[in-house]
Amino acid sequence: MRDLVIINARIVTPVGHSALKGDSMRELLEIECGGVIIRDGVISFVGPMEELPAYSELYQVIDAKGKCLLPGFVDSHTHMVFGGFRDEEFQWRLKGESYMSIMERGGGIQSTVNATRSASPESLKEKTSEFLRRMSAMGVTTVEAKSGYGLELESESKMLDVINDLAHEEDPFIRIVPTFMGAHAVPKEYKGDIDGYVRVIIDEMLPAVKDKALFFDIFTEKNVFEIEESRRLLKAAREAGFRLKLHADEIVSLGGAELAAEMGAVSADHLLHVSDAGIRAMAEKGVVATLLPLTAFALKEPYAPARKFIDGGAAVALATDLNPGSCFSGSIPLTIALACIYMEMDIREVVTALTLNGAAACGIADSTGSIEAGKSGDLVLLDFDSYTALPYYVGMNCVKTTIYKGVVVNENVALPA
Ligand code: NIG
Ligand code: FE
Repeated sequence: MRDLVIINARIVTPVGHSALKGDSMRELLEIECGGVIIRDGVISFVGPMEELPAYSELYQVIDAKGKCLLPGFVDSHTHMVFGGFRDEEFQWRLKGESYMSIMERGGGIQSTVNATRSASPESLKEKTSEFLRRMSAMGVTTVEAKSGYGLELESESKMLDVINDLAHEEDPFIRIVPTFMGAHAVPKEYKGDIDGYVRVIIDEMLPAVKDKALFFDIFTEKNVFEIEESRRLLKAAREAGFRLKLHADEIVSLGGAELAAEMGAVSADHLLHVSDAGIRAMAEKGVVATLLPLTAFALKEPYAPARKFIDGGAAVALATDLNPGSCFSGSIPLTIALACIYMEMDIREVVTALTLNGAAACGIADSTGSIEAGKSGDLVLLDFDSYTALPYYVGMNCVKTTIYKGVVVNENVALPA
């Protein structure tokens, strides 16, 4: 591995080893003309050019004059491993059918479960690695990936094995954080017997997949896993050693945010229909609110109340939710534009939400998510000298170079400036 020096960059980064909350999300460190040194994949220096220490001629040097350097983006919520596609269902939704009614008549998640169960690990791996390459080109250096389209031990394990295999490939270009989501839906074999499926998750799956995932996630929703079942599952997962995430208050206001706070979850995600009490509880307990504007956009639902979270002192992260159903998009540029335009987030808040706070939602803010000595050399160079280009170029990719652990892993053609 060659060591890397970036010179003459406009450096912009949040600072810290945990999520930034409320107004502090707008506090970015900005260095007009700065340098970064990365040794053995880890940042050893960041500061103004006049303070840059001498470095050996063996280092690779990138002159970033006229370019803005940010921490690599963290996409902290995806369902990127799946068999098949659901374009037909998308057409039904365009004609007015709801996401939940399709799910209730056996389509939706269950149809991806059928396709994923019959897919080979190799085919899942190939498809997922194509998504990963696309994400890397958009500046993503860490991605969270959930299981949840197996809904039986063998297929859930297969999904997690695919995720872990990709995470440990030679020449890695992206970090992958694995999440077990056996509680994504009740599979058709257990229709009418939720209790039976809850027991399978607790008794068989949790112990068997313990070493394959860092997080446990659950779809806490009306007619899926309601509050009581969610609480039972979350407690069991916590006891088994998982950290917790919830899909909370996505379709209806059920109290998922409050439950996330009660359980000490790392994040609660979606939150389109969160209550004011839920926002307060999350802010108080330091649960990261992971907001997914692409899903609201694709489902034609109201956006999550980002302003209420931030103004109420909570930490907000932004992620794509890339999945074959509710949101078949992994677009970081569109996520940024929607957050600024429709959720009224300040671009500085958006930068924090996609970097340090995303890393906190993945439980790794101590080692990535900001440009600081001691953290992993995960960086993006924009085509422009200011991050304000990010929402202005609506849905267009402003990332020029993606750097993972000090290695250039992607170069894009430049946008017209
Ligand atoms: O985050 N709501 C549950 N899970 C996903 C959708 C999964 C799917 O439709 O396949 C979500 O929206
Ligand atoms: Fe999701």
